[in-house]
Amino acid sequence: MQYRTFGRLGWQVSEVGYGMWGMGGWTESDDQESMESLRRSVELGCNFFDTALAYGQGHSEQLLGQLLREYPDQKLYLATKIPPRNAQWPSRRGTPLSDVFPYEYIMEMTDISLKNLGVDQIDLMQFHVWEDDWADEQDWQNAVLDLKGQGKVEAFGVSVNRWEPENVLRTLETGYIDAVQVIYNIFDQNPEDTLFPKAEELNIAIIARVPFDEGTLTGTLTKDTTWPKGDWRNTYFVQENLESSVDRAEALRPLMPESMDMPEMAMRFILANPTVSTVIPGMRKVRNVERNIAASDGKALPGDLMNQLREHRWDRTPTYWSQ
Ligand SMILES: NC(=O)c1ccc[n+]([C@@H]2O[C@H](COP(=O)([O-])OP(=O)(O)OC[C@H]3O[C@@H](n4cnc5c(N)ncnc54)[C@H](OP(=O)(O)O)[C@@H]3O)[C@@H](O)[C@H]2O)c1
Repeated sequence: MQYRTFGRLGWQVSEVGYGMWGMGGWTESDDQESMESLRRSVELGCNFFDTALAYGQGHSEQLLGQLLREYPDQKLYLATKIPPRNAQWPSRRGTPLSDVFPYEYIMEMTDISLKNLGVDQIDLMQFHVWEDDWADEQDWQNAVLDLKGQGKVEAFGVSVNRWEPENVLRTLETGYIDAVQVIYNIFDQNPEDTLFPKAEELNIAIIARVPFDEGTLTGTLTKDTTWPKGDWRNTYFVQENLESSVDRAEALRPLMPESMDMPEMAMRFILANPTVSTVIPGMRKVRNVERNIAASDGKALPGDLMNQLREHRWDRTPTYWSQ
């Protein structure tokens, strides 16, 4: 495992971190298998874990709490998130901050997360949706100052809405935010336009999420793929999205070096960018943990392949199904 500096916080984090949404609530999650996967990741050097109170209403946080107790002598960085009070993902333009992140609510949710995790301090607390229009509002800024002052949170981050990497730029200027979590992968290259240069300028950490485009970039989806009833992916991969996503993933297949599969190519593309502090694939299986962490060997993709992959950039705008 290779390690990178987590922006101005200076933490040394594994460049492959752990995305914990799936194990919290996606169908066919198995706690025992999830715990084995988490343990394996620690054995292989992973030390950065991303969860949220919303993932299974605290279940994912509780699994992380269990992991922490099993490795009391190891520094594992935990990042979690405050859900929007109005339960709307993504947030909508024009919604007042008071509907989403009022001061008391931020304090209250943090206490619940601390309890789920079984810790006295959260390393990184993130806002689970964001509107840059809230940048100058006192409520969230005071909550940040007070939670840091009380020692309950070391640092704050924003997890930006899907396909809106720029909806945080003014907020970063306030100085209250040390990390941004953003979708960045072979398709979604737009964080490179303005978010990454701003993060470099201010030395803000970047957490690259959704490295496989929710599954498309694993190369395992077909136009007929469906998920069990109740799985959120049925509502995300509506026919229009599934068909275009599969077509675009298939277009990558001829580029794959013989020794590589699609998930490895997807991981290496992201790791090639030095602005990324850590990439957090969602994983519930030991096999996936081992394969994804194996991509952290310091070996870059060949330059010509990187250039070819750049041409597969896919700029998307939020729509009714994109969540
Ligand atoms: N708004 C937000 O803040 C937000 C939104 C989305 C995601 N996130 C964070 O980002 C993390 C990653 O995103 P994600 O989990 O939604 O999507 P993702 O990482 O793009 O894809 C996860 C899917 O890829 C599969 N997978 C992982 N490694 C694989 C491999 N080597 N080969 C084949 N399949 C593989 C997983 O399978 P298994 O699960 O079966 O192992 C899972 O089905 C989340 O877990 C969460 O922590 C945050």
